[in-house]
Amino acid sequence: MLFMVFQKIKENHAKQISILIKKTFIEFVAHTFTNVAKNEFISHINEENIMNLINDYAGYVAITDSNIVGVIMAKQDKNKITALFVDKKHHHKGIATKLVNKIISDFKKQGAKSIRCWASFYAVPFYQHQGFKKTRGVVKTKKGYTYQPMKKIIC
Ligand SMILES: CC(C)(COP(=O)(O)OP(=O)(O)OC[C@H]1O[C@@H](n2cnc3c(N)ncnc32)[C@H](O)[C@@H]1OP(=O)(O)O)[C@@H](O)C(=O)NCCC(=O)NCCS
Repeated sequence: MLFMVFQKIKENHAKQISILIKKTFIEFVAHTFTNVAKNEFISHINEENIMNLINDYAGYVAITDSNIVGVIMAKQDKNKITALFVDKKHHHKGIATKLVNKIISDFKKQGAKSIRCWASFYAVPFYQHQGFKKTRGVVKTKKGYTYQPMKKIIC
């Protein structure tokens, strides 16, 4: 594996993050959304919106050879992971595990007792491997987003 650096998310990462999320979403998640939801999600993932989110969200990126190949974003006041994407070429190298552990460590320092996520179908086995449990059945929103709510006790 190439040398991998994990860094706190910064505004100048926004462009690469938007490209990574869009590409990985299309490859692994989009087929579980309706066309309306898929198009809405894709249209929201752009450099400007990501830059705005970076101010409000905790997050880390995984960088190798100057390329962002993994990203996690989380809403601290809700104890919730809101985005986790790793480039297909770098799957199964432990990158997402490390990103999740960094966020969990930060949340624990803030006194959080649990962490939640709305997992894509594809990511459910990954989250189970990290000790997350399904909290209820699959959620299908009116707009056509499909998620599996999950939670892990971290205290
Ligand atoms: C889910 C995702 C973030 C996992 O990233 P990753 O860096 O490959 O994960 P890790 O290498 O840390 O995986 C650790 C373990 O989790 C499990 N795991 C990870 N991905 C898995 C998968 N697709 N199916 C089954 N188990 C999986 C495995 O046990 C893995 O260990 P192993 O590689 O030794 O078998 C990545 O596949 C991804 O970006 N998927 C598409 C986007 C997505 O669905 N994001 C979630 C949105 S909520």
